[in-house]
Amino acid sequence: MIHEQIIDKTVAYVKQELHQAEGGHDWWHIQRVWNNAKHIAASEPSNLLVVELGALLHDIADAKFHNGDESIGPRKARAFMETLALDEPTIAAVIYIIENISYKGGHNNNVARTPELNVVQDADRLDAIGAIGIARAFNYGGFKNRALHDPTVQPNLQRTKEDYKHNNAPTIAHFYEKLLLLKDLMNTTKGKSMAEQRHAYMEGYLQQFFEEWEGIR
Ligand code: ADP
Ligand code: NI
Repeated sequence: MIHEQIIDKTVAYVKQELHQAEGGHDWWHIQRVWNNAKHIAASEPSNLLVVELGALLHDIADAKFHNGDESIGPRKARAFMETLALDEPTIAAVIYIIENISYKGGHNNNVARTPELNVVQDADRLDAIGAIGIARAFNYGGFKNRALHDPTVQPNLQRTKEDYKHNNAPTIAHFYEKLLLLKDLMNTTKGKSMAEQRHAYMEGYLQQFFEEWEGIR
């Protein structure tokens, strides 16, 4: 099968799988990450088929929505790729991305980097910052019925999953606990420069937010 056919079939599969996904992880998130990934890959030596498949399949089954089962996504992606008769090194490289892309996988130092993981991870992180990142954060906070902001709750870099369950993490705190940290975790030169622009936009947004909060603007 040629590259284009493989991608078309994967797009159709992912759209079908995600047709009922929530707003932050729907097909449009995948499409944005895919576009970011192609854009970054254009200036980053990497295997484009692996990059595109990794971007398209990276959220096929998020453990958050499957009782924390981390193995579902990789298993579904592998089963799908086997139907395309892709070679094993390609499948393995895509699975490696899906297994290691997540933020909780940590701060980049504990897994072996591949150029394709670097590209797709940057592409996914870019969708968590900037104008889209702001929209996704408040969408997620609304879904969890969290406060927009609570000046009595300080951002807490050690906040645990348990704390989050007790609902005491306003969405503005999430900017300080995660979103504003992402630009320094970018892997690629292109990803870094895109992240810097989006980061500056978030900082401007937060400044305006606090001025409006105080009623001084
Ligand atoms: P990803 O799927 O990109 O690895 P997550 O699933 O953790 O990231 O988050 C999906 C989106 O929801 C992101 O834009 C993220 O910033 C947002 N989000 C996650 N946790 C929170 C939170 N506690 N408060 C607000 N937004 C959140
Ligand atoms: Ni994602």
